Amino acid sequence: MKTRANPVYCGIDTTDLEGAAKLIQSIAGAPKPAVGGIKLGLEFFLAHGAPGIRYAFPEPVRATGVGFFLDLKLHDIPNTVAGGIRAVAGLAPTYITLHASGGRDMLKAAVEEAATQATKLNVPRAKLLGVTVLTSMDKADLSATGVDADPSDQVLRLATLARDAGLDGCICSPHEIAALRKECGPDFVLMVPGIRPVGSASNDQKRAMTPRQAVDLGATHLVVGRPIYQAASPRSAAEAIAREAGVNDL
Ligand code: C5P
Repeated sequence: MKTRANPVYCGIDTTDLEGAAKLIQSIAGAPKPAVGGIKLGLEFFLAHGAPGIRYAFPEPVRATGVGFFLDLKLHDIPNTVAGGIRAVAGLAPTYITLHASGGRDMLKAAVEEAATQATKLNVPRAKLLGVTVLTSMDKADLSATGVDADPSDQVLRLATLARDAGLDGCICSPHEIAALRKECGPDFVLMVPGIRPVGSASNDQKRAMTPRQAVDLGATHLVVGRPIYQAASPRSAAEAIAREAGVNDL
């Protein structure tokens, strides 16, 4: 079977600095990472900031080639979002999220700032991913915000806006992969949470898919949290999930 780059990003939702550092070392450290990347988001970043990221995910681990997804879901006026991108550029994130509903000018300001900072700091440009409609929202929730659309139509509308503003991809649920892949083309990054390995507990993910199903539909990356960090051996769990997704050179 043909192998592929490891698509698994381990989502680490915690404020436990030491615990995160140990976990990251075990799944992403030398000699070879068992994951394609690490996702740290609001919870960890608001508690520990950039110094916490540098501590828990230090340069020797980054040097294994593992990706870094900084899931901050930025949403503000263009100038402030650009400032946010500038403020975290030194951490050299591979991916940063922002809400596509922030509008074209906000998205474009972020794209421009990411490019400016990459040149200035001589780091790879952070790829920007749009958040469309949160999966916690249904049609009634959307309507209450003044958006009278089906969530699936609104997802497509926002993903198209994100792509046209120059974003590199979107976050999407497993059930949105096929439509977004069709609408946004083959190069659009689709980072997909709600993934459960065959035979595992679904936790609170109500409509989860397996790694293989998601990759076959066109997901480029899979965000997996609890099935990895709650496992007896997170490293073995991550490897098994990567194999399920078609990675066979671990
Ligand atoms: O533990 P689990 O695999 O469910 O974690 C999935 C990760 O993806 C968490 O960081 C969660 O916040 C995130 N996520 C999600 N569902 C969404 C959007 C993000 O599970 N719709």
